[in-house]
Amino acid sequence: MRTLLRFALPLLVILGGIAWTASPMMKGLVDHWFRGDIEARARSLAESSREDLADLAGRPAGAMDLFRRLRGDPHLLAVGFCDRDGVLRQRSPSWPVTLSCPDQPPSSEAPAFSVRQLPDGPALLSAFSLPPPRADGGSLILIHDLGFVDGIWNGVEVYMAGVLSVLTVVAAAAAILIARLILSGWMRVVRRELAAPGVAPGPAGLAQVPEIASLVDDMQRMLRIGEGARGTDPIRIDWTAESLRHLLKTELSDAEVIVLSNREPYIHDRDETGTIRVRRPASGLITAIEPITRACGGVWIAHGSGQADRDSVDERDHVQVPPDAPSYTLRRLWLSDDEIAGYYEGLANEGLWPLCHLAFVRPVFRADDWEHYVAVNRRFADAVVAEARTANPLVLVQDYHFALVPRMVRDLLPDATIITFWHIPWPNPEVFSICPWREDILQGLLSSSILGFHTRFHCLNFLDTVDRFLACHIDREQSIVSAGSGTTQVRPYPISIEWPPTALAGQPAVRDCRKIVRDRFGLPEDMMLAVGVERLDYTKGIADRIRAVDSLLETHPEWVGRFCLLQIAEPSRTRLAAYQAAQKDARDAANAVNNRFGTPDWLPVRLVLHHHEPDQVFTLFRAADLCIVSSLHDGMNLVAKEFVAARDDEDGVLVLSTFAGASRELSEALIVNPYDSRGMGEALHQGLTMAPDQRRDRMRLMREMVSENNIHFWAGRMLMDAARLRKRQNLDTPQRESRNEQP
Ligand code: G6P
Repeated sequence: MRTLLRFALPLLVILGGIAWTASPMMKGLVDHWFRGDIEARARSLAESSREDLADLAGRPAGAMDLFRRLRGDPHLLAVGFCDRDGVLRQRSPSWPVTLSCPDQPPSSEAPAFSVRQLPDGPALLSAFSLPPPRADGGSLILIHDLGFVDGIWNGVEVYMAGVLSVLTVVAAAAAILIARLILSGWMRVVRRELAAPGVAPGPAGLAQVPEIASLVDDMQRMLRIGEGARGTDPIRIDWTAESLRHLLKTELSDAEVIVLSNREPYIHDRDETGTIRVRRPASGLITAIEPITRACGGVWIAHGSGQADRDSVDERDHVQVPPDAPSYTLRRLWLSDDEIAGYYEGLANEGLWPLCHLAFVRPVFRADDWEHYVAVNRRFADAVVAEARTANPLVLVQDYHFALVPRMVRDLLPDATIITFWHIPWPNPEVFSICPWREDILQGLLSSSILGFHTRFHCLNFLDTVDRFLACHIDREQSIVSAGSGTTQVRPYPISIEWPPTALAGQPAVRDCRKIVRDRFGLPEDMMLAVGVERLDYTKGIADRIRAVDSLLETHPEWVGRFCLLQIAEPSRTRLAAYQAAQKDARDAANAVNNRFGTPDWLPVRLVLHHHEPDQVFTLFRAADLCIVSSLHDGMNLVAKEFVAARDDEDGVLVLSTFAGASRELSEALIVNPYDSRGMGEALHQGLTMAPDQRRDRMRLMREMVSENNIHFWAGRMLMDAARLRKRQNLDTPQRESRNEQP
């Protein structure tokens, strides 16, 4: 109907315009035609009375008699006789009183016609010269009504408007029908061409419809580009562990996967009774990578840091994990206390960690630490080579602990595909320049085939840093660095979590989680609960969020006694001064706000400094009204994504630092600046008072995002890029000069 109106209205306007312009001309024609008809009638009346005219003109009531005789003509108004001087001598009673004889007398050969405007409308005056014996210049005058023509014209106009409307609708419907028929013919051709590009057109092919030949050409080109793009961005695939396995089987069937990280995915510890317990470490990296190795199998090499780790491995330092359903091998590597102090605590956590995080903690660089760092990197690289059964394994190097490993592995396994992922931010060149071993670190990383960061911003920082300190070629458009013998693709791969997360399975309903957690912490049922869950690290802004609680209670006293922040912070890197200070800072902040606002029955902040297993954390998330992630600087922050994943009830509010990489993706969170405690306090108030449907809409969008951009998507993108590199490399192998040919 709308299509019909769309066609019919303009058509109606066009046709109406034409009719309106032509109307005066048509009226003129109608007038002319009727006047001709009346003139003919007048002639015939005059002719039919010709015999008696002379006599009638002489009689006193001659005009009236004649009028009576001619009454059969419905349009005849009156009859009269004029003398040669133009004086009205006789007239029928119907003769209009104001009407005189015509100015122009008729000749004996031709009557004279004229139109006069009478009070009731126009009239035609027909004058005929009287026949002998009164042919003395006298004339017979017949008056006919012409007003009836206007009435007829009005009728004609209404009729024409009706016809025009009907015609318009019929024409519009016909036009639509014809257009549809033509279009469907074209669409058939386009579809056939797109389905089988390059196939010679058939009888109804492009040769028959040259109008669309160029369009089909363009579409085919776009399709080819689209297919190319799909190769690098597998966005259409629904990413699951299964699709990842399929990818490995089909695209990387010859690749053995070796993962390398400092932190191990499963730690064997002993409890007070001496029983061995398996623990999952608090590490975003582990949260992200472990589902991948579960899907891919292979070997994971990591530092064996648990008290019972040595008792749990075989003679090759291998243990099959996950313990309840083994699917890959964990290879543990043992570090001495000096190595841990120099490589892990020193260079990695007192040097590189604060160097890369803008949290205003001064990095410390000691030459001894560097030597340990180099030596431990060498040991891990050797372990990779020892584990490799082929010459070209797929090595996944994790994080800032192993900046030198890519180069060391490359030296020993030149054909390896090395993907290095830097899980923390990369600073700008000025900041990075203070590192005494900056060139070594950059060269080490640039032996990777692919170097990944969470955000494009960090990729750009890295490229700028390389540009500043190394002589190399940077293709900024492709984000490829060519240094020494090979090339490195520098790409953003925003890391994520498993979807649905394993820890969600078996969780009680949200209502029950609320009760469990409130009972556990002795909180009343209606207490509004905010949670924070992380390692106790100065980059996480824990003290800052506690100060925001202080601001909330000060600015909005209605929350006093009705709100609680439950902060779970697992102590981390506790031998380092900066971490001890961060712990003290968090405790002091909690004490301050508790002393200021707390009562014997209620504390606004509960600081819980011990480890929680993933399923316990998920129960907390499900029990909470709010989750606070207030990192001062964070590569991604997976706690934010886990909170979203835990809320299958589509409720709960996320308060998220703008300085966490996750804020780029979770823009429906309440985004805060953790340095602004007043602003963060307001965000807490906003979250606590947010309408349920707004909470649901925001949570729904965030869940959609995390479910699509899940950890399998993250790994899938990197592995597909790696597969492409390996294919190119195979093409190059006979005359291999460079590791990765530039596309
Ligand atoms: C961050 C790092 C990881 C590290 C984790 C835990 O997420 O990027 O590499 O494993 O912190 O730190 P930890 O020092 O305990 O391994």
